Order: sequence, then structure tokens, then C-alpha cells
Amino acid sequence: MSASLEGKIAIVTGAGRGIGEGIARKLGAEGATVACADVNTEDAGRVAQACGHPAYAVRLDVSRASECDSVVQATVDRHGRLDVLVNNAGINRDAMLHKMTDEQWDQVISVDLTGVFFMARAASRGMRSQGSGRIVNISSASWMGNVGQANYAAAKAGVIGLSRTAARELARSQVTVNAICPGFIDTAMTRGIPQQIREAQLARIPLGRAGQPADVAALVAFLASDEAGYITGEVINVGGGYVL
Ligand code: NAI
Repeated sequence: MSASLEGKIAIVTGAGRGIGEGIARKLGAEGATVACADVNTEDAGRVAQACGHPAYAVRLDVSRASECDSVVQATVDRHGRLDVLVNNAGINRDAMLHKMTDEQWDQVISVDLTGVFFMARAASRGMRSQGSGRIVNISSASWMGNVGQANYAAAKAGVIGLSRTAARELARSQVTVNAICPGFIDTAMTRGIPQQIREAQLARIPLGRAGQPADVAALVAFLASDEAGYITGEVINVGGGYVL
């Protein structure tokens, strides 16, 4: 059987480690040419190398509109098209609402929400004119509300509104837009959570384990494939039953 993404051109943001790394590796294994985009170029380079030819690393800070525009433009110039955009880059700066600083709020909104807007806006231009495309946005189960994450939950809820609106606008161009809400995935982000909270969160997962980046990547690969062409505007949990 041929790989499901043979010949597709993809950009994965935040591809340097964690879930983004898992997504880049999976899309590469399915035959896509992956631009591994990350603010950390060393990590992005390592992942691109692990994906093997034709993957490559690009420096990108998603919170800067000009960088988002240039990375998308450079991809289109290099390959003549962009088929798949995965908006995965994200950060957290947790604090209780009454203690949250302006900076903590602004940083998370600019990377986790505005960054998705910048990249989706840039990618949608070419996808509209080529009459095809896949945008997969990584939101979070936290969008429904989570103690200590007012900034993060607001950004991730915003990603859902943005995804659903983009899905409506781009449908006529046969471009699909979907959001994935991972639950508790074992990455550097969750390893930073205090042990007591970590254990309480793990205990809430019906399937009895933390997720792995590959669990999220499998769904991204499917949503990016031709087979998923009739699925758009969806918000899909990958959390081992976390939200049940
Ligand atoms: P991580 O912290 O392990 O990796 C994030 C990657 O994004 C890093 O390589 C980092 O350099 C890159 N990055 C950060 N800021 C960037 C920027 N401004 N521009 C470009 N790249 C940037 O995080 P993890 O866990 O892999 O998370 C990936 C995504 O999944 C994030 O959007 C996160 O919010 C989301 N998520 C993670 C969950 C988890 O349990 N780990 C659960 C739900 C959602």
C-alpha cells in the first residue's frame, strides 16, 4: 500500500520536540515533504534529520506575522504549493487569575492564538487559489477551563472558534480545517507540571496512561490525507477519555 501523504508538502510548527516532533515524523513516514518549523532551530534541525530526506528545518517564531508570511511564501516558492499546515507550536505560562501578569497573558495569546491566525491566514491564500489544502490546529482539552490556565484556555478556545470559522470560509475551496484537543500527553510541557497535579491528572484518564505524541500524530496524518476530505470544522479529543 502506498503511503497516504505521498508527494504532499507540509509545514509543522513547533516541530522541534514533543507533539510537533511526533507529527513531523509521522507525516514524513507517510510520504510528505515536511518543513520542520520551530523557534529552536537546533531542535528543528535534529528532527528534520531524523525524518530523513526530503524533510528540512526552518526557523519560525509564529508570534511574528512577517516570519509566518515568509515561511509560507518560501515553501510555496520552493515546492510550488502547500498542501498541509499543522499549527502545533504552543507555550504555557500558568498562574492563578489573580496573580497572572500582563506578560504571561500576552505571551500565551500571541503564540497559541495569534500565531495560529498568522499561519492560517498566510496558508489560506495559496490553498484558496490551488483549490485544496488541509489545516490542522492543535488546541487542548484545557479550552473548556482549567485551574491556573486562564490565558492558555482562552487561547485554545480561541483556536476552536478560529478553526470553525476558517472551515466555513475555506470549504468552497475544498480546504478543510479541523482542531485536535490533546488531553495529557507526555512531553516537556507536561513534565514541567508539579508532581501532585500531574498524578491527579493522570488518575483522571479512563484509558489509564498519559498519551504519547504518536497518539496525536496518527490523527493529524489522517486529517491531512485525501481520505479525510469530507471532514471539516471538527473538534476532536485525543485524550484517552480524559473529557468523559
Ligand atoms: P513542547 O513544549 O514540548 O513543544 C513545543 C514546541 O513549540 C517546542 O519545540 C518549542 O520550541 C516550539 N515553540 C514554542 N514557541 C514557539 C514559537 N513562538 N514559534 C515556533 N515554535 C515555537 O510542547 P508539546 O507538549 O509538544 O505541545 C505541542 C502543542 O500541543 C502545543 O500547542 C500545546 O499547547 C498542545 N497541547 C499539549 C498537551 C500536552 O499534554 N503536552 C495537551 C494539549 C495540548
